[in-house]
Amino acid sequence: MDVSKTTVKLSINGKTVQAEIEPRMLLVEFIRHVAELTGTHIGCDTSYCGACTVMIDGRAVKSCTHLAIQAQGKSIQTVESLADPDGTLSALQKCFSENHALQCGFCTPGFLIASTALLAENPDLDEFDVRKGLAGNTCRCTGYTPIVDAVLAASELRKS
Ligand code: FES
Ligand code: FES
Repeated sequence: MDVSKTTVKLSINGKTVQAEIEPRMLLVEFIRHVAELTGTHIGCDTSYCGACTVMIDGRAVKSCTHLAIQAQGKSIQTVESLADPDGTLSALQKCFSENHALQCGFCTPGFLIASTALLAENPDLDEFDVRKGLAGNTCRCTGYTPIVDAVLAASELRKS
């Protein structure tokens, strides 16, 4: 074993992923380059944009601010987990589509994961809750209103 490397074992979308990595490897790099799940994007690399948002044990985090070794033994959920295995979109993804909540789509994985965590915490969201809850995610295309509408629509679906 290369002594400069360390073994990391964690779960991503329900599958165990284990690899020998350099301790400095970021979680987002582990997800994209080791697990080869490229739905999680790197936008700013400075914890500003939220494109890299994933869930660790159910909490939304910016994976460019975490080392992979900090997620040792934890359960990671990425955007690839949201749709069914046959490709059927989740209710939240359908709400994003129906409300035109994406244009280029670069920010969308981060918004979807942040919104999923937000809805899990509070299924009965109002506009203030959504705007506050998604304040850590940046979109350069939509002007945010369609994203807020999409999350509110998903919240309504949960209540019905
Ligand atoms: Fe992580 Fe922008 S890439 S916050
Ligand atoms: Fe382009 Fe959000 S849809 S950055």
